[in-house]
Amino acid sequence: MLLLHGGVGSDKSKLEYLNSKLNDYAKVGSASASPLENVVNAVVKMEDDEDFNAGTGSVMRIDGSIQMDAAVMIPGDFGSVIAIERVKNPILVARDVLEKSPHIMLASDGAVKFARTLGYEEYDPSTGKARSRLEKVLAELRSENAGISSNVAHFKKFVNSTQFVEGSCDTVGAVARMDGKFAAAVSTGGSSPMMRGRVGDSPVLGAGIYCGPKGAVVATGIGEEIAKNILCYRTYAKIGSKPLKEILKEEVDSFGQTLIGLIAVDKDDYAHYDNGSMAVGTNNLEQ
Ligand code: GLY
Repeated sequence: MLLLHGGVGSDKSKLEYLNSKLNDYAKVGSASASPLENVVNAVVKMEDDEDFNAGTGSVMRIDGSIQMDAAVMIPGDFGSVIAIERVKNPILVARDVLEKSPHIMLASDGAVKFARTLGYEEYDPSTGKARSRLEKVLAELRSENAGISSNVAHFKKFVNSTQFVEGSCDTVGAVARMDGKFAAAVSTGGSSPMMRGRVGDSPVLGAGIYCGPKGAVVATGIGEEIAKNILCYRTYAKIGSKPLKEILKEEVDSFGQTLIGLIAVDKDDYAHYDNGSMAVGTNNLEQ
């Protein structure tokens, strides 16, 4: 069974359309007998789709650059790339970190160098949508402070009060169970507005992703809050204590108004829960 999400904070008017895409991607992504292969294949489809904030379609940082985060996890192993630039599919590089490197996380220029060494070509993931979003953010920021990032305190206040919530943190993710084995994958362009170098929850083990012998969990939403609460590990630790949906609801509700979504799979069940418009899809083959 494969369960996908397209990010919390998605455009509500497009939810049905996005759900139907994700159902299709879940079918494509369930061709293999390997749960890791399947979550990666499904995330590649979402990274290649401009409607989602990951890979092509990622949001821009306030300097106009695109730095992406992605991670994969199976019980006992992990791979992630942090602030990687100019590659088409960060999730494939994250899987290569897990399978081909002696490390679990590679960041920025080191991640790019690793990708190039393995033959990943230079690729520009920017889109017109990302550019126009950045223009809107910068216009808003300029109207309040001509210095933009020169005034860090102002930027913090601006981000905390920004109205640009919709479409600003829609990470994509996938969890799978195949023959009792689990895998999880997550990929994001990050949040908006954000500084160059900012890292959220997605590539951090236990924060935006966790997978162990009891199941797999992936989060979406405000990365700083997810990471401070080690949300995916905290959710994973509760698996087996009550129905999965109840666990997810309890965790999401604990964040109040902060935008959060979770998907999870355990040995018997799968569930998703969010507090603000999250597209989901599933192949729904094995229950
Ligand atoms: N949840 C994705 C991020 O905050 O970067």
